[in-house]
Amino acid sequence: MTRTPIQLPQQRQFGETSRLGAWWLQPLLVFLGLGAFIVYSTWAAFQGAYYASGPYLSPMYSPLIWEGAGQATSGHNWLGHWPDWLPAAVVGLPITPAFLILWAPGGFRFTCYYYRGAYYKAFWADPISCAVGEPRKSYWGERKFPLILQNIHRYFFYVAALFIVILTYDALVAMWFPPEGMTYAQAHEAHALEFGFGIGTLVLIVNPVLLGLYTFGCHSFRHIIGGHKDCVTKAPAGKKAYECVSCLNKRHMLYAWMSLFWVGFTDFYVRMCAMGYWTDLRIF
Ligand code: FES
Repeated sequence: MTRTPIQLPQQRQFGETSRLGAWWLQPLLVFLGLGAFIVYSTWAAFQGAYYASGPYLSPMYSPLIWEGAGQATSGHNWLGHWPDWLPAAVVGLPITPAFLILWAPGGFRFTCYYYRGAYYKAFWADPISCAVGEPRKSYWGERKFPLILQNIHRYFFYVAALFIVILTYDALVAMWFPPEGMTYAQAHEAHALEFGFGIGTLVLIVNPVLLGLYTFGCHSFRHIIGGHKDCVTKAPAGKKAYECVSCLNKRHMLYAWMSLFWVGFTDFYVRMCAMGYWTDLRIF
């Protein structure tokens, strides 16, 4: 019997592929979208000002543990003015209230299973895309330092869930306005706030809703809520909860982007109102 040698496919060079479609489009969009958010949020975090307007507080500064160094009381801080023992700048770079809290939602997103898949492709092209030649010849996965640290995601989930509670509280606060002639801080101090609803209130309500859809569709949460069990159907309530989380999990990418965009927009809206460029419309 004669044997015919079969030529196995050669290992592809970096970027080489037989794919015909625009496989590079999605990583490019992720690069642009995520890149734009990182640039904007870093800029906003460095500002240390214009983070509150009346009852509205930017989610990038919430919870506002201390008021920004040198800033007047906004009425939103938890512990008063910037403390003397905390430096207002390090090596010439300002430390603002945003830096005290942004590590939590930032860490949650950075370690998210969806974002990992997206930014590995978009930012360091490893892997660049399915069936496209990779820059490395061996696969290391996330078993080694530093990527093994991504496993911290399951713990970030608990912190992110706490942030949903805080941002929901901010949305409720956004329904209480100072009377004519008083600042928000003065009215807050004097317990003179009045119930109302503005466009900003709506913006601040949508924010925790979208963040909740993203956070509670988390793969880690799905594991906690029932994924670790051999049989979820034994407890009807547990089964229902597992199905709800699974339903959100199916659209995890969509909610990831919607909530990311809305966090940026909410900060921008509050900032524009605080700077006097936009006037918030009171509905009632
Ligand atoms: S997997 Fe995306 S938030 Fe947990």
